[in-house]
Amino acid sequence: RTHHLAVIGGDGIGPDVTTAALAGVRAAADRYGFAVETTDFDLGAEAYLRTGVVVDEETTARLREHDAILLGAVGDPRVTPGVLERGLIVALRVAFRQSVNIRPVRLYPGLTSPVTGVDADNCDLVIIRENTEGLYTGGGGLAHAGTPGAVAIQNSVTTVPATTEAVDFAFRLAAARRKRLTLCHKKNVLVHAGQLWQDIVDEVAVRYPDVEHDYVHADAMCQHLPLNPGRFDVVVTDNLFGDIISDLGATVQGGLGLAASANYNPAGSAPSMYEPVHGSAPDIAGKGWANPAAAALSAALCLAGLGERDAALVLEAATASVLAELPAFAGPEMGADTAEIGARIAERVTDVDP
Ligand code: NAI
Ligand code: MG
Repeated sequence: RTHHLAVIGGDGIGPDVTTAALAGVRAAADRYGFAVETTDFDLGAEAYLRTGVVVDEETTARLREHDAILLGAVGDPRVTPGVLERGLIVALRVAFRQSVNIRPVRLYPGLTSPVTGVDADNCDLVIIRENTEGLYTGGGGLAHAGTPGAVAIQNSVTTVPATTEAVDFAFRLAAARRKRLTLCHKKNVLVHAGQLWQDIVDEVAVRYPDVEHDYVHADAMCQHLPLNPGRFDVVVTDNLFGDIISDLGATVQGGLGLAASANYNPAGSAPSMYEPVHGSAPDIAGKGWANPAAAALSAALCLAGLGERDAALVLEAATASVLAELPAFAGPEMGADTAEIGARIAERVTDVDP
């Protein structure tokens, strides 16, 4: 069997971490006897500055023909913030109905959170973030810009289909894990959206009688997640809260260099897209100081999404094993550059236990 992957390296450290992750994917494919064919897509700041277009319809159609998409990161100081991030990532999430963002927050054996001192026994949760709506729909406007009378309106949208898809996915995941689901929102203030989220959770919960569910406010989550991550199994939340608590989760895990994600289309009607949580990190681009673990762990989620469960487990285990040997998770203190760490992960893939 052959899996066709579209690869968008993107900007800054994106291409380096993606190349490093692909080394691990290829090693896992060799071990488990399947083939991976990749098609590189030249998207990101350079392409945009050259053509004035972030991604056109023809390119979107070609991306759609692939089984999955691996993305590095986009974003460049020469381009207005948002043009590439919204124009590519948010646009593809919507076009390909990737309504579920999967964000594992896990400390691997032997690792202790550098921030909170929490250890591996007490940190293994997954954040499920609704990925297409909320405040990210972009609706609203700015009137009287540049004057003291300026007024901005930024609309938030919550619909039953997309929310139900995310909540149902979260319950299904919890049922296969430790059977606990937590809704994270701010329903005491955002009463309309909060009520709809809670109603949908209560309704879907009926279909998963073994899964317990509770509720935590997004602000309180910012305290519980770092101090007591062991309290959570699956956390389901909206787009903006999910974005924020995901980065908090990354900090608990050891930094953005370790945080993986999937933009997942649960219906399988278009490819899912797998990307590290971090951005293009222009401050360290070209230096070899980027940790490719986040990209490798995202690639492991990709293999799982393609049905290659053993290969996914092995790539995850190999990455965790290499991480445990690194003296630091970012910068020159890692003791090896991005490509070397990628090569080490690929080598470990050949003999690590899943
Ligand atoms: P960033 O994630 O690129 O970097 C934040 C900090 O973390 C920097 O100090 C960076 O050096 C460090 N860092 C990030 N990834 C690392 C890795 N793998 N290993 C070691 N250190 C790492 O976020 P920032 O600086 O806010 O944004 C830079 C650009 O990336 C902006 O244009 C932003 O819009 C874009 N961005 C794109 C994302 C995406 O493509 N999904 C996500 C977040 C930001
Ligand atoms: Mg983010």
